[in-house]
Amino acid sequence: MTTITPSARFTELPGRKSPFIFDAARDIQRKGFLQFLHDEWRRHGDLFQIQIGARKMTLAIHPDHVHHISIAKRESYDKRESYDVVRELLLGNGVLTATGEAWRRQRRLMSPFFTPRGVEQFMPVMIRDAQQFIARWQSKAGSVVEMLDEMMFVTASIILRSLFTTESDETLLELKSDVETMIQFTSTRQNKPLRLPMWLKVGENGRYDRARRRVYAYIQDVIAQRRAMPVERWPDDLLSKLMRARDEETGEAVSDALLRDESITMFFAGHETTARTLTFAWYALAKHPDVACRLRNEIDTVLGDREPTIEDLKRMPYTLQVIKETLRLYPAAPLYARDAIQDDVIGGKRITAGSTVILSPYLTHRHPGFWEEPERFDPERWTPEREAAQHPYAYHPFAAGQRICLGNTFSLFESHVLLAMLARRFAPELADPRHAPQLDMAGTLISRNGMPMRIVRRA
Ligand code: HEM
Repeated sequence: MTTITPSARFTELPGRKSPFIFDAARDIQRKGFLQFLHDEWRRHGDLFQIQIGARKMTLAIHPDHVHHISIAKRESYDKRESYDVVRELLLGNGVLTATGEAWRRQRRLMSPFFTPRGVEQFMPVMIRDAQQFIARWQSKAGSVVEMLDEMMFVTASIILRSLFTTESDETLLELKSDVETMIQFTSTRQNKPLRLPMWLKVGENGRYDRARRRVYAYIQDVIAQRRAMPVERWPDDLLSKLMRARDEETGEAVSDALLRDESITMFFAGHETTARTLTFAWYALAKHPDVACRLRNEIDTVLGDREPTIEDLKRMPYTLQVIKETLRLYPAAPLYARDAIQDDVIGGKRITAGSTVILSPYLTHRHPGFWEEPERFDPERWTPEREAAQHPYAYHPFAAGQRICLGNTFSLFESHVLLAMLARRFAPELADPRHAPQLDMAGTLISRNGMPMRIVRRA
């Protein structure tokens, strides 16, 4: 790893400067934001600046920069202004948007739920929801579906059931739709230069406001029902775990407002990303019949006609390699931001306090200095020997350092279970074999032209 040391002489960050603002906006419109960033990166190198409207951002692509920002100089970066809209409209003080001591406390409290042992407890929920989903696909066999909708359906159900075990399917569907209204509103508002003030509760402001009230009331109700029961009778789900948890230093319980924020955070962070990963995995399998064949051989050999156990998952390493390679080429979170809270220097370039630095799994994962034929989908990169030989920060689909994704084990485990159970029975095909997804960024990695696929039962 190269070291990044402060220097007395700074050079200016390369990149397009203000006279080209409109030029940049036109380019983004035409190519999509990710392709625009890709082209700027190839032109200016691993550390460069872009300016869109009044906003300047520094892109840091080299794996050493990822290490520098997330680990070596992590005290110089935090989640501040870049997260204000999400904090205010969606996640409040939940662990994804909290900062400082509040974040540390919540992270410490919640980490035990997401260790490999903690996550294994959710296996029965995953298997049950996957079985229901299989019945849905059996009835749709032969028809064309939008694959993302299908994957969202099953991952949303798994995360909601992991949070609130006892609720009826109907109630969970209503909750899902209301939280999705909130997510949609937040993500569009973030990118809008002109915004209606929030107190004007008309149009989409009104829809957001009503959805938010219902979500808050629903969660408050579930909490109240549990409090009315003896603790031993609480269902063993994420909400009960959070309600039972006590801070190890102060002995304090989590407040109702924070229980609500954390529930929304888990739902927000915990289903769309996994759904997108699985969608791109189906795409990659349809495009690479050799990989699909090897994956199905592994699944058939290990499972026969059973559902997977935890032991089985360990005996299906190739299935996990396919998921890891999908997360390399199609990272569901292609960009994430950090705000510099003090001046810093990266590679001889000054990063001023208050500026926003963007890290990009999407670009780092395509870095030709660290990946051979980066655009090629190749699960062989993930054999234990080859994985150990990689630069440790050339791959960061879940971010890195202390703010690494809390649900990374949950997500890999869930994807492993779902892919094994579904690929044992189905071999989805692209509705149009020439379909090439137009990748772009809309909060997460999207395909602008969708992912229409046909559900095909395996012979
Ligand atoms: C393929 C699936 C997933 C991907 C690619 C992903 C990626 C990420 C990334 C890049 C971050 C850092 C975001 C930032 O700093 O702004 C993050 C944070 C987080 N993720 Fe995930 N995630 C996934 C699944 C999940 C799941 C299933 C859960 C929960 C069950 C989850 C919970 C969280 C939480 C709570 C944080 C905030 C952690 C903190 O700031 O301390 N994620 N995730």
